[in-house]
Amino acid sequence: MSSENSHMVALRDVVMEFEDKKVLDDLSLTVEPQERLVVMGQSGSGKSTILRLILGILHPSAGEVFFKQFEVTRLRRRKLQQVRRQIGMVYQYSALLSSRNVRDNVALPLEELSEKSRKEIDTIVDEKLDLVGMKDARDLMPSELSGGMRKRVSLARALTMEPELVLFDEPTAGLDPVIASVIDELIISLTENAKVTSIVVTHEMASAFRVGTRMAMLYQGKIIEDADPETFKNSQNPVVAQFLSGSTEGPILEGSQDAIEKK
Ligand SMILES: Nc1ncnc2c1ncn2[C@@H]1O[C@H](COP(=O)(O)OP(=O)(O)OP(=O)(O)O)[C@@H](O)[C@H]1O
Ligand SMILES: [Mg+2]
Repeated sequence: MSSENSHMVALRDVVMEFEDKKVLDDLSLTVEPQERLVVMGQSGSGKSTILRLILGILHPSAGEVFFKQFEVTRLRRRKLQQVRRQIGMVYQYSALLSSRNVRDNVALPLEELSEKSRKEIDTIVDEKLDLVGMKDARDLMPSELSGGMRKRVSLARALTMEPELVLFDEPTAGLDPVIASVIDELIISLTENAKVTSIVVTHEMASAFRVGTRMAMLYQGKIIEDADPETFKNSQNPVVAQFLSGSTEGPILEGSQDAIEKK
């Protein structure tokens, strides 16, 4: 399996079933170091599921999931926790602890996973909050934040462990265009300056084409297009074309996910 070592992430023939519903159907996908892979697809197509598989939160029904040389599905708990430290995750719904203020939410991974002193942790927290323009919100509670502010705190938290890979689940959804651009710029600078690799799930076309160095389209459990942004934009695949144009005319139909089950 030495060939797996060069990829940052590799999914091989992954099948993911929930009860009788097959969400991913023999899906294969690789991500190279310092790429920014944008994953697109309809709501419910399995985008968040892919991210959860990479984190080892979900186990595939079949197939293999690699993060660098580690086969995530085969790791024991201790090792999995170690490996997860190298992956930052910005959750779709921010997932902040409501009983802790912003500082404590961002400090959480450092407090749980590192041996750093409170002073060292405070320095890192301030640095990460500054990065996302949220330093002034340090002492606020999550309930006092807007959705966009929560997203940015969640991003700051994902960066505290200096991860090699960051997974972004809809990082700019619901943000105003200016803040969305700030987040996009941040994603780009992370890969360019800190050599981070990122996978970005997004519905926002402007964001997708701003940040992506490669785009993948998930449809009916498979990656149906995987290309550089320019090629992707001009895809002849009718599903991709319809998705990019947002047209109601085309192969994407309401309930098209059922098609996998009937096969
Ligand atoms: N833990 C679970 N148990 C049962 N079904 C699940 C589970 N997680 C996801 N699913 C199902 O898998 C499918 C894909 O879900 P997923 O959250 O990956 O979609 P998504 O592409 O991220 O959608 P969205 O764009 O709306 O966030 C959905 O039909 C969902 O209901
Ligand atoms: Mg999702």
